[in-house]
Amino acid sequence: MPDRAPCFYPSTPAPSGAAVPLPIASGDREETGGTVVRFASCTIPAIGAAMTSLLYGRPPAVFDPPGAATQLSPLIPGSTPLEDVAEGSVDDVMIYAPPGVLERRYALALALRALKVGGRLDVMAAKDKGGSRLKKELEGFGVEVGESAKAHHRRCVVIRPETMTGLDAAIAAGAPRLVEGLDAWSQPGVFAWDRIDAGSLLLAQALPPLKGAGVDLGCGYGALATVVLGSPAVTALRLVDLDRRAIAAARKNVTDPRASFEWADARTLEDVGTLNFVVSNPPFHDGGAEDKRLGQAFIRKAAGLLKKGGVLWIVANRHLPYEAELKDAFKRVDMIADAGGYKVFEAVK
Ligand SMILES: C[S@@+](CC[C@H](N)C(=O)[O-])C[C@H]1O[C@@H](n2cnc3c(N)ncnc32)[C@H](O)[C@@H]1O
Repeated sequence: MPDRAPCFYPSTPAPSGAAVPLPIASGDREETGGTVVRFASCTIPAIGAAMTSLLYGRPPAVFDPPGAATQLSPLIPGSTPLEDVAEGSVDDVMIYAPPGVLERRYALALALRALKVGGRLDVMAAKDKGGSRLKKELEGFGVEVGESAKAHHRRCVVIRPETMTGLDAAIAAGAPRLVEGLDAWSQPGVFAWDRIDAGSLLLAQALPPLKGAGVDLGCGYGALATVVLGSPAVTALRLVDLDRRAIAAARKNVTDPRASFEWADARTLEDVGTLNFVVSNPPFHDGGAEDKRLGQAFIRKAAGLLKKGGVLWIVANRHLPYEAELKDAFKRVDMIADAGGYKVFEAVK
């Protein structure tokens, strides 16, 4: 049985208003009259008497995503892990399916497992991002699938039957694991989950030993952080990522007591203006489409986090226009490396 990612939650309070507890399979628990429930961030708004409705990701509005559903996406800080939802406990799940095959089959299998018999799975994906494979993938679980097409997406609806097949195998194939050869914990769906990213490698090779307190913005499973913590002059390192699975893996990979972990959108961090350094291999995709604004926002955030004289080390795909943003936000900017389609900048505030 593969190890399960550690379960952790931000301090975000649960939405107020009428709520029924979501049955939870593991993690922090409270026993109430034989029912295992989790409170705080894991309560969900009531629909009718005790109907449970879950949502994974952010489907386009044209699919009428439920307004009052518990969010499950690992890319939305504060969401509830689908892994923790008790088997056979849920009435409805809508999934905006992720593009990676292992990640998608993992989410579909977990969702089918979470449904009550007779419960409804409604799943959609852009045709070129897994949508055209959805029906076959679901049929592989031994369920009947109704398929339709809308807005360049395929949509599949399944009513959960009594018996299904292949769920355990799909869940095992998408679960967190110690990746052979990489010697690190990771999980399908995490950025470059089973390899060292070429951009991060170039940045790691260019980095001098750093000093003081810093942050790794978009830390992934922690590859770059391990290199940074190789410097004994580093006193503290915050590892920040939007992906709960990446943070869970980083916690296992980076056990150095100087490290701390934040499941958060880097753009929302407080501009403390106190750090000595920032390292980052920033994301350049948002929802599957290239978006240079993400990297530019990371650069502005780095400037807000650093003290005067603090340094940002950042790697970017060659074609991405980050120079102007760097020059705007920093006093001195030098390109330190340019190889293999990536460039590394050192920027001093
Ligand atoms: C290019 S990857 C680099 C990952 C890691 N440093 C590595 O070398 O493997 C960018 C990382 O940023 C994360 N990310 C994307 N959007 C983010 C956001 N708004 N805030 C924080 N992290 C984000 C992604 O989950 C991904 O792990």
